[in-house]
Amino acid sequence: MHKAWWQGKVAYQIYPRSFKDSNGDGIGDLRGTIEKLPYIASLGVEILYLNPIFASPGADNGYDISDYRKINPQVGTLADLDELIARAKERGISIILDMVLSYTSCEHELFKRALLGRKAPERDFYYFVRGSNGRPPDNLRSFFGGSVWERVPGEEDLYYLHYFTKEQPELNWYNERLRERMSDLINWWLDRGIAGFRLDAIMNVVKDRTFPGLPPDELGDGSCAAARMNAKLAAQAPSLYQELKKHSYGPRGAFTVAEAFGLNDNLLDQFIGDEGCFSTVFDFTARETIEKNRPGYYAYPKGTLKIYRDGNFHMQQLTSPLGLVAPILENHDEPRAVSFYLEEGQQNAQGARALGTVFMFLRGIPFIYQGQELGLTNTHFDSIEEIDDVQSKNEYRNATAHGFTKEQALAILNVHSRDHARTPLPWDDSPHAGFTTGRPWLKLHQDALSLNVAAQEQDPGSVLNYYRALVALRKRGAWQECFCSGDFIPGSTADDHVMHYLRKGAGKCAEIVGNFSTKERVFELSGEGRILLCSIPEARVEGRRLTLGATGAAVVEILPGRSS
Ligand code: BGC
Repeated sequence: MHKAWWQGKVAYQIYPRSFKDSNGDGIGDLRGTIEKLPYIASLGVEILYLNPIFASPGADNGYDISDYRKINPQVGTLADLDELIARAKERGISIILDMVLSYTSCEHELFKRALLGRKAPERDFYYFVRGSNGRPPDNLRSFFGGSVWERVPGEEDLYYLHYFTKEQPELNWYNERLRERMSDLINWWLDRGIAGFRLDAIMNVVKDRTFPGLPPDELGDGSCAAARMNAKLAAQAPSLYQELKKHSYGPRGAFTVAEAFGLNDNLLDQFIGDEGCFSTVFDFTARETIEKNRPGYYAYPKGTLKIYRDGNFHMQQLTSPLGLVAPILENHDEPRAVSFYLEEGQQNAQGARALGTVFMFLRGIPFIYQGQELGLTNTHFDSIEEIDDVQSKNEYRNATAHGFTKEQALAILNVHSRDHARTPLPWDDSPHAGFTTGRPWLKLHQDALSLNVAAQEQDPGSVLNYYRALVALRKRGAWQECFCSGDFIPGSTADDHVMHYLRKGAGKCAEIVGNFSTKERVFELSGEGRILLCSIPEARVEGRRLTLGATGAAVVEILPGRSS
C-alpha cells in the first residue's frame, strides 16, 4: 500500500455545537474550538473532524445545508475557520469537514430555483416525480420514518424526494453538471487549507429513476426502508465517486472517510485502498447488527461486547488485504459506548479504560469521539422535552404508535437516542460545566460537575490520561506502522466477554486482551511477553500466560524470537 500523509494518525471528532461555547449563546462555536486546541493537541490526535458547520436552517442540526461556502453564524465565520485551520496546523493537526453531498437543505438556492418550474435549469438537480391518484410515486420509507416523498406545494400530484427530513431534498447525482459543481466545491475548500472530508451518507446517491418501490418490509405498514433500495443499487456508487475523486480530492492527496452505511462487503475493494474511491470508510458493522431489519429503536437490542467485537473482527479481516478501515466506538449518531456495549456494573471509568484499549489498537485510522476520552456515559433524559434530536423525536412517536407507553418510549430513548452523544462536553465544575456562560442548547450530563476535563486532568489514573497513553503507544516508533497497517489476527471468540486479538508488523508483535467478565482470567499468549500498557493494576505476565483481572485490558508485547 502506498504510504499517504494520514496513515498512522489517530483522528478526533468534535460536534462543534457541543464542544465549547465562546460567546455565551449556549451553542458551541469555532472560537471555542480554537480556545481548546491545546487540549485537542494534548490527546496526541493529528486529524480533527468537525461535524457540519455550514449555513443551515437547522432541521437536522446542520446536516441540512443552505450554503456550502458559508459558515453557520451560530458557529462562527469563515475567518474563524481560517484561523482554526492555521492554528491547528501549527500543532500538527489537519482539519477535515463533513461534506454532505447527497442532499441539500430546501433553503438552498439550487432547490429554491428548482422549485420555479419544469423549465428551471436546476430542476434536474433534484428528483421531482409525479404520483398517481393522490399517492406518492413509490412506497419507500425515509430514514427518519414516513414517506420519502413530499408534495410540491401548489402542484397537484407532484412530489420531491427526500431520504431524511422533508427539509433535505435528495440531489440527482446522475446529472453531470451537478457533479461538476460538487468537484468545484471540494476544490474550493481544499484551496482554503482543508485537509479532507468526511463524506456523508455516500450510499444514498444511487437511485432507480423509474421509482418502482420495493416489497413491504417488517414495519408492516406497506412501506419499505429506502436503505434496501441502496443495497440493491450499491454497485453503481463507485463509478460516481471515482469521478468525484478524479476531479477533486484524488489529485490533491486529501484524506476522505466515508459514512458508508449498508456497504456491501463485496464492494469494499472499490471503496478503499490506493485505487479505491476514499482513503477509508467508517466501520459501522456493530451498529448495523443492531439496526438491521428492525423497524425502529423500539425493536433494537441493547449492544453487547460480543456485538462490538464480532462486528470489528469481521471488518478488520475483510479490509486487511484491501486497505484501511476507520474503527470507532461511538460518534454523534450513537449512544455512548460505555453505556451501550458494557454491562451495568462496568459502565464506569474502569469499563471505559478497558473498552478504549480494545478499540485503540484495531487496524486502520481510529476516530475518537469527543467525550469518549472522558469515559462519558449516556445522559439521563427525564422527559421528551429535553430531547432535541429530530430522529429521536420520530422514534418516540414510532414507539408510542406501536403500543409503547410514553414512559416506555422515553426509556427507549434513554438507551438509544443520538442526543447522548450530543450533550455539551463538560470542561470543569463551574456553572454549566464550563461549556457556556449562557444557557446550554442541550442539557448537560448528570455527572458533568464531577465527570469533566478539569477533574480528570488532576488525576493521573483518569480515563483522560489513560487515553493519552493509548494514543501515545499507538504512535510510538515502529508500533505506529504495526498498529495502523500490520496484520490483524483475531483471538478466540468462544467467550462472549473477551475481546482478544494480535497485531503484527514492522518487526513488532502485540496481543491486545480485554477481559469483560466479572472474574479474573488467565490467557495463553502466542509467545513470551511483557505488558506495554494495562487498564487495571491486576495484570501480570508470566512466560506465556497473562493473568488479567475483571473488566480489564492489556497490551502485551510478544518478545521477538519468543513467539510460536
Ligand atoms: C448524519 C446524521 C444525519 C443524517 C441526515 C447522517 O449521515 O451522520 O447525523 O442525521 O446524515 O442528515
